[in-house]
Amino acid sequence: MTNQKDVVLRHPFPVRVAHWVTVLGFFFVTVSGLGFFFPSLHGLLGFLGTPQLAQFLHPVFGLVMVAGLTVLLLRNALHCLPEKDDRKWFQHIPDILKGNEHHVVEVGHYNPGQKMLFWKIMGLTVVLLITGLVAWRPYFAHLFPIPLLRLALFLHSLSGILMMFLIFVHIYMGFWYKGTLRGMTQGTVTRSWAKKHHPRWLREPATKGNKNH
Ligand code: HEM
Repeated sequence: MTNQKDVVLRHPFPVRVAHWVTVLGFFFVTVSGLGFFFPSLHGLLGFLGTPQLAQFLHPVFGLVMVAGLTVLLLRNALHCLPEKDDRKWFQHIPDILKGNEHHVVEVGHYNPGQKMLFWKIMGLTVVLLITGLVAWRPYFAHLFPIPLLRLALFLHSLSGILMMFLIFVHIYMGFWYKGTLRGMTQGTVTRSWAKKHHPRWLREPATKGNKNH
């Protein structure tokens, strides 16, 4: 059992709720999206009831994901701004993967890899949202010419597939850095985890002074 004094709050309750709502939305749009895109995976549509129901629910879950990500954007954008040492961090990725990141730069709230992933996720979400709204039948699709609809669907599928790759990397990293996941489940991380991976964040007055719940 970890002593309460040995942990610090990493993600407050509203952020955790927004994150897991995002995961729920992402899971259903991914399953249905793969079912629409690959004829061989058409059977996945049964996961949401019937293909017709999947067609109706896909954009609804997309909006659920966008709602969760909007909260994450508002809560985390300031922590994800570029800083001057970020370039040095990217130049030393091999050392970082060996677990020597504390010798390279003093990482703050997020490391530069997380920050880059964050902005890529947000950028792709904007593309998915706009192209998804354009192609949404029966509400908006009829307002646009066919060539534009085709372009929107092409960009929508491409961004969806890129997003799946990014999220795969994100989940892999969450498990790779032992002790990270509990920040998004219980809310807290151990001080030793923070000292190793985010020492500058641990020293911030807001982190030191926080209550562990
Ligand atoms: C089972 C799936 C997932 C797991 C296990 C997971 C895990 C995590 C963890 C542990 C963090 C906190 C990282 C830290 O404190 O340093 C985090 C943050 C975050 N996650 Fe996830 N995540 C998952 C799926 C997703 C999905 C599907 C999205 C978006 C579509 C997403 C977007 C984010 C964002 C924007 C953050 C905040 C910034 C960041 O740490 O990159 N996550 N996630």
